[in-house]
Amino acid sequence: MECLRREPVESLLMLPSGCVQDHWPSSLQEFILTARSLVLPREQKSPQSFLPNSRVASIGTVLAQGMNSKKKHEIEALSGIVDAIARSRGAKTVVDVGSGQGYLAQALSFEYQLAVIAIDASSHHASVTNTRAERIKKHYAAKCVEKQQFKVPRTVTCHVLSSDTLAAVTLDACQDDHGEHITETNNCNQSIPQIEQPNHSIPQLVLAGLHACGDLSVNMLRVFVSCEQVQALVSVGCCYNLLSEDTDTCPGFPISKAAKSSKLVLGKSIRDLACQSAERWRNLTKEMALQNFDIHAFRAAFQMVLEKYFPEVSRLSPSIGRQGKALRRQRLRKVMESHLAMGKADDLSYPNCKEQNMNTDGSLPTEPTAPKGAVECCSNELCTGFNFYTSHKLQLFWIVCFSSL
Ligand SMILES: C[S@@+](CC[C@H](N)C(=O)[O-])C[C@H]1O[C@@H](n2cnc3c(N)ncnc32)[C@H](O)[C@@H]1O
Repeated sequence: MECLRREPVESLLMLPSGCVQDHWPSSLQEFILTARSLVLPREQKSPQSFLPNSRVASIGTVLAQGMNSKKKHEIEALSGIVDAIARSRGAKTVVDVGSGQGYLAQALSFEYQLAVIAIDASSHHASVTNTRAERIKKHYAAKCVEKQQFKVPRTVTCHVLSSDTLAAVTLDACQDDHGEHITETNNCNQSIPQIEQPNHSIPQLVLAGLHACGDLSVNMLRVFVSCEQVQALVSVGCCYNLLSEDTDTCPGFPISKAAKSSKLVLGKSIRDLACQSAERWRNLTKEMALQNFDIHAFRAAFQMVLEKYFPEVSRLSPSIGRQGKALRRQRLRKVMESHLAMGKADDLSYPNCKEQNMNTDGSLPTEPTAPKGAVECCSNELCTGFNFYTSHKLQLFWIVCFSSL
């Protein structure tokens, strides 16, 4: 750690690329090079490059309502991929796991005419999905010249906590009759309701999920492995830090048998760290990276202050990360704007920088106004004697603290 503390920001930014310095201890160099060799590639590829028979339909304004440009891009690409895979496996039914407001489910129903079951824990999401689907159906029916039946996705509300439940809910929803009641369980040893004899009332199906949080993606994998009706799995995981680690049940976080037998416990902070997308750092300019590090450090410091002096606030408002993220984005946008104004656009290698800074509705975030007290503090007694750099940092720290509350 000591040698890293002395390194300039530029060489820290090169760490994710596997760049090591000769003067670092060989154990550190080895660790970084091994970690780099294990990284999964993150290059963007078009669906056609690995699925030549796929068709990516452009999503129109009615179907795209409520989506920002990132979500629209994801839904367009993923629905084309799910459709191509479903066709190649002879499956006409797709189960969208963690379907949210039904964006993927609706694209698959209306653009690709697949039968879709949308499973989500939130009943509110189910009712939004149903309302949206009815509106979209009217639009498609109106523009269709021939008489065509449009099927809306079927919504199922279930908080899935195990692969058993996911298998049972999936098979039950796909079956012709829906008599059986599903009981939630956490017990991984309970056998999955496997259909021994081929049951012709249950169609071949594809499990799909876009940003299915934590263990939900793991449970999809388990159901894919054990359930013969599931012909394919298309899953984009999310919130890896939420993966469970409890070894008494079936942990979602992948740990080798050797690590388990040594009773190794990682804990939330280490799982969080393992899930940081450090790959992004190398695309940051030095200035952006420094600001990024500042905000992370401030958040950590603020968390410590809260836990020590205001434990009840820390317990009741666990939203520090979210607010800090908005502030960080807003600050990055400012840096980028000033770079652009100075004609330094070439320095900005941060990908999709405009989109990264957008609110979920696609608009740019508004300036957070620092609470009056915070700014006054900096220009009055607290900052007397500080040089500009320090007072600027203190001011920023105050803004982070207040915006986090
Ligand atoms: C990040 S959102 C993704 C929503 C949607 N797939 C999309 O991309 O717009 C994750 C969704 O999964 C649902 N979810 C999370 N954990 C779940 C669980 N254990 N069982 C069922 N749904 C869950 C949440 O309610 C939320 O709607």
